[in-house]
Amino acid sequence: MQPIKWLVEFVEVRLGVKELYNRELKGYLLPRNVNAWYTLGAVLLALFTLQTLTGILLLMFYVPDAAKAFASVQYIVNEVPFGWLFRMLHAIGANVIVIALLLHMLSVLFMASYKGRREFTWLSGFIIFNLTMGICLTGYLLPWSQLSFWATTVATDAAGAIPIVGDYLVEFLRGGPTVGNQTLGRFFALHVVGMPLVLLALIGAHLFCVKRRGISPPPFGPEYHATEAKPFFEHEKHPGGVPFFPNYFVKDAAIICFFIAFLLAIIFYAPGLFFPDSAFQPADPFLTPPHIKPEWYFLWAYQALKIFPSEIIGLGVQGAFMTFLALLPFIDRGPERRPAKRPLFVTCYVLGILLIVAISIWGHYS
Ligand code: HEM
Repeated sequence: MQPIKWLVEFVEVRLGVKELYNRELKGYLLPRNVNAWYTLGAVLLALFTLQTLTGILLLMFYVPDAAKAFASVQYIVNEVPFGWLFRMLHAIGANVIVIALLLHMLSVLFMASYKGRREFTWLSGFIIFNLTMGICLTGYLLPWSQLSFWATTVATDAAGAIPIVGDYLVEFLRGGPTVGNQTLGRFFALHVVGMPLVLLALIGAHLFCVKRRGISPPPFGPEYHATEAKPFFEHEKHPGGVPFFPNYFVKDAAIICFFIAFLLAIIFYAPGLFFPDSAFQPADPFLTPPHIKPEWYFLWAYQALKIFPSEIIGLGVQGAFMTFLALLPFIDRGPERRPAKRPLFVTCYVLGILLIVAISIWGHYS
């Protein structure tokens, strides 16, 4: 017997993997008209895996101490073989993850895939989204550059606008009255252990919900049918559909390659895209740079705080918007999912995106 065949048989008789493969991969059927937007979940899984691998490599050389952190990152970039590559993959990869997350969320919203008893899927995804923002925020401080230091100072300052507990919260986040070594310590612990562990559990829960409930059929074309609300649990099956493996997996793999190519294109052709000059200067608590801005995905929140007469109103509006988004599947309960039959939703959707983009651009140039 050939060695590979022997190995397959060896595992097969012990774990019954063929039956598992036939049931969970080849036998897992997706709707016949499934489209490329459904690959974004797999793209996110691939990008998070890459982020974990590059993060582990960075961890081998990074020193979480305010006196040494900046120099340790310079050492990674300039001295460690391929250090520049895994640092760039990690730092720019975070931005690409946010892009993929936003696209995944926007496509789920547009196709109303949160309907049909998918509230848990949506809620777990929504928490993942917020946690990812937290991981980005805590990671931003770690290089201990002027950008890191002042962006974190601005971001943690915002919590001070909350009445009664605001000042206490700022001090709690920073571990003291100002951003310093103690802030670096807690952000480091949260960034490399605390938040990734919770994220891993949440991704598991999200995938469980997707798999258990069954994927939603795309709300387009003649095959569309509204999901009935039956008084019992039902797995949404798609008889005569596309096998997940190998058929749909090939599409997943193609779009994953596209995102990796996009990430590499930024690294090689526009490496400074997400790094202003202040990212190359060590943190100096006594020198405030002239134009300190948070990352692009926090710009809307940053500018929203400035638009309103008081920061507390700005925070209130943001809180209300995020609560509305979290509870959307409980608010938007009609069975209709076709965008053409939901003109009010689509109008609010387009105007909402335009508004957030406009406020972000305003924040960038203000
Ligand atoms: C780490 C981040 C995430 C991962 C790895 C992930 C993964 C996935 C995967 C693999 C699927 C099935 C295929 C697909 O539709 O793409 C899916 C579906 C879904 N995701 Fe996510 N997701 C993430 C974040 C989010 C976020 C932020 C939301 C929304 C707030 C969300 C809401 C949903 C919903 C409602 C579905 C069900 C779609 C359906 O049944 O058609 N996910 N996710």
